[in-house]
Amino acid sequence: MANHMIFFTLGLYLLICCYTHNVMAYDPDPLQDFCVADKQSTVKVNGFVCKDPKVVSADDFFFAGLGKAGNTMNAVGSNVTAANVMQIPGLNTMGISLVRIDYAVGGINPPHTHPRATEVLFLMEGTLFVGFIDTANKFFSKTLEKGDVFVFPKALVHFQQNVGKENAVVIAALSSQLPGVQVIANSLFAANPPIPDSVLSKAFRITQQIVDFIKGKFV
Ligand SMILES: *[C@@H]1O[C@H](CO)[C@@H](O)[C@H](O)[C@H]1NC(C)=O
Repeated sequence: MANHMIFFTLGLYLLICCYTHNVMAYDPDPLQDFCVADKQSTVKVNGFVCKDPKVVSADDFFFAGLGKAGNTMNAVGSNVTAANVMQIPGLNTMGISLVRIDYAVGGINPPHTHPRATEVLFLMEGTLFVGFIDTANKFFSKTLEKGDVFVFPKALVHFQQNVGKENAVVIAALSSQLPGVQVIANSLFAANPPIPDSVLSKAFRITQQIVDFIKGKFV
């Protein structure tokens, strides 16, 4: 009998501990129909405070910005247009957002992570080589054709490259109102203030001259 109680208590403890941990890792569930972001408020909470529902309108849930291509004339040959809580206040507390990504021929959306979101990508035009790396450093990759869908699990490093002969266009949904992004190369080689060369040279097993050479590419 006593043994049963110990196992029961242990089980309950594990359940509570793991459940709480999971909840902490996601956008919180809404506690009301909507909570349109009040961007003027100086009150800081986990997300934005809610606008008075009396002044909420359809425009708070609307965005016309994904209809046109972003300009891909940049160093990576891609452009991400976001539709998250910053563009659509009605997404506040909803745990979801969209992006449109345009790629020139050969363009790349370089290796990056979204700390708060799983991403499900739909290829509208073109051919993309996509991949992510799990925490055991296993590389999962696929060449996508128009109409294909691919998933990048939450927080894992991933990328897409246009390997076709025409421009590529993607719409992707992300499981956060504000997924956040860290581009790996920029985080390490273009941090402000800079990460010391001694750290990067040891981490990448290269000379400090090579570190400076790479840093020079990001100015
Ligand atoms: C993406 O495209 C928009 C719209 O053309 C442009 O304003 C912005 O500078 C572009 N961003 C990058 C990183 O090229």
